[in-house]
Amino acid sequence: MAQTLQDVPSELKPLYGTASKDSGYIPTPATLVERMLVMARVGPNDLLVDLGSGDGRIPLLAAQRFGARALGIELIPELVAYSRREAERLGLGERVRFVQGDIFATDFSQATVVALYLPPSVNLRLRPLILAMKPGTRVVSHNFGFGDWKPDHGDASDDAYGWLWIVPAAAAGRWQIELPAQSELVARRFEFQLRQRFQQLQGEVRINVQPAQLFSSELRGDQLSLSVMDSATHWTDFKGQLNGDRFEGEYRDASGAQGKFVARRVGP
Ligand SMILES: C[S@@+](CC[C@H](N)C(=O)[O-])C[C@H]1O[C@@H](n2cnc3c(N)ncnc32)[C@H](O)[C@@H]1O
Repeated sequence: MAQTLQDVPSELKPLYGTASKDSGYIPTPATLVERMLVMARVGPNDLLVDLGSGDGRIPLLAAQRFGARALGIELIPELVAYSRREAERLGLGERVRFVQGDIFATDFSQATVVALYLPPSVNLRLRPLILAMKPGTRVVSHNFGFGDWKPDHGDASDDAYGWLWIVPAAAAGRWQIELPAQSELVARRFEFQLRQRFQQLQGEVRINVQPAQLFSSELRGDQLSLSVMDSATHWTDFKGQLNGDRFEGEYRDASGAQGKFVARRVGP
């Protein structure tokens, strides 16, 4: 029968509370580890990196239960040695690696999921590195946040908090979309001026130069939705993917018109 993480003999566990560089060693409760991995929808296509991996429980479970590849970066050599023994004991082979090193001196930019349980001041120092990662990268943290970058989702059962962020694509700027003529008999040119703070967007929109209302917007990774109202009864929704200076997807409006669109960023 396959062994589980709970089978670890307690006398082999590293000392709880051991001091380290940016945070002491305090493990995340096993139940929260699982909920964090579920919240991040970790799967076989993921590379999870735990920044300060402690006894390795997050990478080990990500590989064992969720089929992901996983990497733990940890400063304390005894914890790294312990994590490697656990990976071997659980038969996880090549799927899990542990490196002994400093998270601020180790490249983790290829991760699709970042896990951490570090103090808020350390999270803030990591924030620029994380925001520079590929849009759509998921970040799960035990308890602590990233200052004014609000989480996309939270799980607070059992009194232990887990939070999820999704690295947003760059959406700010002046965007133009031209839709073909429908019942109005004239093509409609939408021009958006978007401002961005993390995943939150605000802005103005004009349709054929006339002001309209940007009714709602949602940005999750590279997935963007914009909803425009140009009178009490006429709305147009755009939903698609951001890729550099292109925003491509499908639109539909209150008249029943729908189809594909390609928007271009034409200015800052
Ligand atoms: C609060 S523990 C969390 C352990 C594990 N991520 C978990 O959630 O169970 C933080 C870990 O980060 C490690 N750590 C602190 N500063 C570090 C740094 N600069 N580089 C690598 N590891 C670090 C500590 O040794 C400790 O094991």
